[in-house]
Amino acid sequence: MLPTYPSHLVRRVLWRGEQLLIRPVRADDTEGYAAAAKHCRIEDLRFRLLSGIQQVSQQLIAQFTHIDYERTMAFVAEGVKGDIMAVTRLVRDGCKKSAEYAIIVRSDLQKQGLGTLMQKLLLDYAADLGLKEVWGLMDTENRRALDLATKLGFSRVFQFGLPFVRVVKVLA
Ligand SMILES: CC(C)(COP(=O)(O)OP(=O)(O)OC[C@H]1O[C@@H](n2cnc3c(N)ncnc32)[C@H](O)[C@@H]1OP(=O)(O)O)[C@@H](O)C(=O)NCCC(=O)NCCS
Repeated sequence: MLPTYPSHLVRRVLWRGEQLLIRPVRADDTEGYAAAAKHCRIEDLRFRLLSGIQQVSQQLIAQFTHIDYERTMAFVAEGVKGDIMAVTRLVRDGCKKSAEYAIIVRSDLQKQGLGTLMQKLLLDYAADLGLKEVWGLMDTENRRALDLATKLGFSRVFQFGLPFVRVVKVLA
């Protein structure tokens, strides 16, 4: 059975004078994801996926767009022309009290506040779910994402011997 689309989570927000649609990802977003990936620098994709990826495969896109909306949620920011500009994702841990987040803003749209907006909305959603903690895994060289996390109240937990930093935010 197909998961029910959580349409109550669709909303509009104003970003730099443009109306954006923030909505849960849909299974038919595959083309939109592929188009957005073309606007992402390889370094940004690698920071997002924590891998030495060369390109985003159809298989990966299918995995990102076909979600259950229960354990996993992903929000896309859609521009007025229907283009996907940014994506945030939250995957609940087995205990259901915490969740891992990830975020990407198209490289050509960064440094204009969209990352802050998307990450704040994701944190609001996590709080609404009653989660106690949100965490993320960042490359130690990913200064932009680490700075954004710090700005939004995450602490850094260094993982000895690993090239990753775990950022953690306890929700009220
Ligand atoms: C991290 C990321 C989401 C930030 O998106 P963004 O839209 O550029 O973010 P914002 O414009 O809202 O900037 C937010 C904060 O990020 C930090 N930041 C953004 N650009 C920066 C840069 N070039 N250098 C240092 N810090 C930077 C700052 O702390 C900034 O705070 P400020 O508004 O007080 O200046 C974006 O760079 C990205 O998609 N990176 C690739 C994917 C990734 O690394 N994801 C994280 C791992 S899952």
